Amino acid sequence: MSVLPVWSLPVRLFHWLNAALFLAAYGWLEGGGSLHEWAGYAVLALVLARIGLGLFGQGQERFAAFWPTPARLARYLRAFPAGHAEWPGHNPLGALMILFLLLMLVVTAVSGWLQDTDAFWGEEWVQRLHEWSADVVMVVVVVHVLAVFLMQRLTGVALLRAMVTGRRS
Ligand code: HEM
Ligand code: HEM
Repeated sequence: MSVLPVWSLPVRLFHWLNAALFLAAYGWLEGGGSLHEWAGYAVLALVLARIGLGLFGQGQERFAAFWPTPARLARYLRAFPAGHAEWPGHNPLGALMILFLLLMLVVTAVSGWLQDTDAFWGEEWVQRLHEWSADVVMVVVVVHVLAVFLMQRLTGVALLRAMVTGRRS
């Protein structure tokens, strides 16, 4: 069995720092105290860097490599779950979830920032958007982690190890 590099060090750093800082921002609330805000800004910076990698990076980290086109989604779903192992990077269904997560992380961090500006301070819709988007991310993250373990079981592909070591067999 050959071992292929799939996730570059920047992608792996993005993933684990983002996961830790998102959970930290979600946990350190206390009325949006400064730890909360800095964790949130760090999440925003990481997501913007990940978008840069998606546009200008290499190999499987490029959006073009895993963009969930209708044709790719149809091919994936027709062969599910046995065909999963044929996708070297993110599978198209996982890619849909990833793009949605990146978008909702931006919405959460930007709405959090807006709440702190003079222009939007005290605006109820901004507060509600912030709470709602943070909760949506949390729900999607739970599904994400369950999906990783389920797909590992169904297909035997060590997805988690690949996000740690960068290599996949
Ligand atoms: C702590 C438990 C977590 C585990 C075990 C985990 C595991 C993984 C794995 C194995 C992948 C690669 C999936 C594939 O091969 O297609 C992945 C990708 C991803 N995960 Fe997680 N994850 C966790 C938490 C999170 C959290 C909290 C977030 C967001 C706040 C998150 C966001 C993402 C994103 C955006 C990707 C795509 C990575 C990229 O291409 O940059 N994950 N995760
Ligand atoms: C992705 C990162 C972030 C996450 C996951 C997040 C999550 C949350 C959550 C779950 C709440 C509690 C909502 C509730 O009361 O039920 C909250 C409140 C708050 N957040 Fe964030 N947040 C993030 C980023 C930010 C940023 C960047 C700022 C500002 C610089 C910020 C400012 C606030 C403030 C001021 C509150 C209190 C709002 C209120 O009193 O109703 N957040 N955040």
